[in-house]
Amino acid sequence: MRNEGVVLTALLLGAAGCVEGWIPSSRPAAIFSHPTIKSSADQATNEGTAARDETRTSSRSSRRGFFNSITVSSAAAVAATITTPFPSDSAVAAPLPTGLNLVQPNSLTGKMIVITGGTTGLGLESAKALAKGGATVVITARTDAKGKAAVETVLTYLKERGIRNVNVSYVQLDLDDLDNVKSFPQRFMAKYGSDQKIDVLMNNAGVMAIPDRQLTKDGYERTFQSNHLGHFALTAKVMPLLREQGARVINVSSLAYQFAGKGLDLSNLNREKEYSPWGSYGASKLENILFTQELQRRADANGLNLIATSLHPGAVNTDLARNMMGGEEEWYKKKETGPTNLLENVLQSTINKALLTPERGAATQVYLAITSDEEKGRFYSDLKPQKLPAFATDESAAKALWTQSEILSGVQFSLDKKQ
Ligand SMILES: NC(=O)c1ccc[n+]([C@@H]2O[C@H](COP(=O)([O-])OP(=O)(O)OC[C@H]3O[C@@H](n4cnc5c(N)ncnc54)[C@H](OP(=O)(O)O)[C@@H]3O)[C@@H](O)[C@H]2O)c1
Repeated sequence: MRNEGVVLTALLLGAAGCVEGWIPSSRPAAIFSHPTIKSSADQATNEGTAARDETRTSSRSSRRGFFNSITVSSAAAVAATITTPFPSDSAVAAPLPTGLNLVQPNSLTGKMIVITGGTTGLGLESAKALAKGGATVVITARTDAKGKAAVETVLTYLKERGIRNVNVSYVQLDLDDLDNVKSFPQRFMAKYGSDQKIDVLMNNAGVMAIPDRQLTKDGYERTFQSNHLGHFALTAKVMPLLREQGARVINVSSLAYQFAGKGLDLSNLNREKEYSPWGSYGASKLENILFTQELQRRADANGLNLIATSLHPGAVNTDLARNMMGGEEEWYKKKETGPTNLLENVLQSTINKALLTPERGAATQVYLAITSDEEKGRFYSDLKPQKLPAFATDESAAKALWTQSEILSGVQFSLDKKQ
């Protein structure tokens, strides 16, 4: 019965242009393991039942205008107010760029690019595109099994297209375990040597709309830690490895930052006072934006040649909706079997039409990894910087978030030039 509810909800959301993707396309079999997650209710480990979702806040931007026209404070509001500015893929007159066609072969030779959450969705697609350009691409994966499968997918992709680049690998990372985050540079250097510099750090991993307030091993609400705090700590730890000239930090945010339209509630970062799946997701995506701006301000103040950007990829058909659809296990089971009746078939094709493909969705983050025209600290969508409302450019909130994030993660940024 739950499926029917899901179907109806998704159809309604889809009709309003705000579809949470499900029954996505193919993906290697997943290994379900959540060693660091507990439900705040039962404190039990969350294997198999964990809900990692993805937001598919729909938005196929119309390249101009859509961003400013949207005001939302909840998922329901999004469903009610977002009209799909893009027609379905087949009806788009001028094809949008995809991550893959933005990158020219051999244009990225010698670059080292690290992508968090590269095992599926936008991270995996970005890895393919950037590897196509000849970069050394390191994806992060929570488990070895997922890392190996993802690397295999990228290498197969390259091989099938006659692209010679075998410099694709994974390094284990679980953002929900701060000790694991802090030791990431050791694992990276063990593989590539201590002199290896990183040109691009793409903070892409994320979860969306987890139904209940789950706690990580560190005792933080999972969306907050996966989407913001873990990446904050990772960036701080990776800072000494970033190339001194022109390194990029790209934070994959979302238009869902608008769910936090009242501004960041610094007294509820860990969602102790109040939890809602979309409230937490929206806040985490606002945190991505504020963190980007503050990182840029501090880098500039220290004379660092670093460019930080954030972005909204669009509403993309990835695995982000896992949590909303019964959790990871059920999600991938459904993915294996595909639609099993007419209604599901109709739903799938409706959703597939409403959402961007991962190839398209990855375009903005791939663009930000390869361009030299990006504007420092800005929030992008559709390959263009976007104007943000005042609450999303609030300097004092960004500073306070930085301070709190250092305290909560126990990681200090060192932005000294000679690190
Ligand atoms: N899809 C959209 O419509 C959309 C819209 C706006 C913004 N975004 C943003 O785009 C980013 C990528 O999402 P996606 O759509 O590609 O979703 P996805 O297909 O679910 O991919 C999410 C990735 O993040 C990884 N991840 C999740 N929790 C992690 C943790 N604790 N530690 C390390 N890695 C973790 C996942 O690893 P596993 O494979 O191990 O689960 C997976 O590789 C997210 O930040 C999301 O908020 C997506």
